[in-house]
Amino acid sequence: MKILAFESSCDETAVSVVENENILSSIVSTQLIHSKYGGVIPEIAARTHLQNIFKLTQMSLKEANTSINEIDYLAVTTSPGLVGSLLVGSNFAKGLSIKYNLPIIPINHIEGHLYSGNLQDNTINFPLISLVVSGGHTSIFLVHSYNQYEILGSTIDDAAGEAFDKIAKMLGLPYPGGAKLDELAKFGDSKKFNFPRSMIHSKDYNFSFSGLKTSVRYFLQKEYNMEQNKIKSDLNDICASAQEAIVDVLVSKTIKASLDFNVQTITISGGVSANSLLRANIIEKANKHNIKVTIPDSNYCIDNAAMIGFLAFQKICEFKKVNVNEVTVENIIEPNKSKNGTNFFDLSFNVSSNHIRATRK
Ligand code: KG4
Ligand code: ZN
Repeated sequence: MKILAFESSCDETAVSVVENENILSSIVSTQLIHSKYGGVIPEIAARTHLQNIFKLTQMSLKEANTSINEIDYLAVTTSPGLVGSLLVGSNFAKGLSIKYNLPIIPINHIEGHLYSGNLQDNTINFPLISLVVSGGHTSIFLVHSYNQYEILGSTIDDAAGEAFDKIAKMLGLPYPGGAKLDELAKFGDSKKFNFPRSMIHSKDYNFSFSGLKTSVRYFLQKEYNMEQNKIKSDLNDICASAQEAIVDVLVSKTIKASLDFNVQTITISGGVSANSLLRANIIEKANKHNIKVTIPDSNYCIDNAAMIGFLAFQKICEFKKVNVNEVTVENIIEPNKSKNGTNFFDLSFNVSSNHIRATRK
């Protein structure tokens, strides 16, 4: 069974072909244009998805050595995310659905991340604890199967990725700063400055990162008067100290959840799971309790369509396929469905302003 999958919930346009549980292609185009604004501009994101999605679909099919006529199902992220961006992916899928008479499987973005640990490791057994940690979400789930899971806790304010990005911005790093902060932290002393680990000892599985952000801001004001050239001398140490504050809480709560629920497997996913300290520390702590940790390659930690296609396959196996008319983006009046929705095909597209990664399992 071949599935053509789309992900366009934020600032990555991604298209993938999966065959059963195998990834035949995974193309991700990151919209670099937002870095000059210091954050994702929804209107620009939607427009850029629209410019790129057709070309990326061609690339993905080519990479998978597959013709659209060999596709059995379409899968697309329908929520949560930026509404305009979600509409591009879901309406593109609808256009293909009408033209090629293909059923569409709508997929929740967070569920896509939630199961992405299973993407490259088919030895994983349920139940498992899954930490989904990205720019928009920080949650811990107890996962029983591909269609049954419960949320144990979430951030009550900022997501961890948001904390990374906002701290990075204060330090003068380009958006999104999480990966850059991680890089600089490798050369810094994490014990040099002591930033708060909010809620680390609370009995629940919730998180809070806004206090850390404020604490870093006050610290930069007091010590360096927010001047970038003064901050520079301690930059690596500040990065390392702030990173450790975030990672300590993520690791501590995730390990606590697996011990409390007596679960032997942890997966972590979402953009922040690419963080080197998080990866190293969670493995080290889990090993002490004989808990297995599975983390996808960083290409599958960030937003990608392979996780969407993979989960669609699992849902089909659980008989959850739906009709094109049922694919709606939450809270949006469904746009007119036009039999003549093929005008995308007449346009020419240019994806050169983006960073394109192609990965295969
Ligand atoms: O999952 P994702 O690609 O998009 C969302 O759904 O949000 O996650 C993006 C987030 C950004 O906040 C980015 O700074 C963060 O993941 N991120 C990192 C690293 N790589 C990406 N944060 C910390 N360390 C990294 N190495
Ligand atoms: Zn995501």
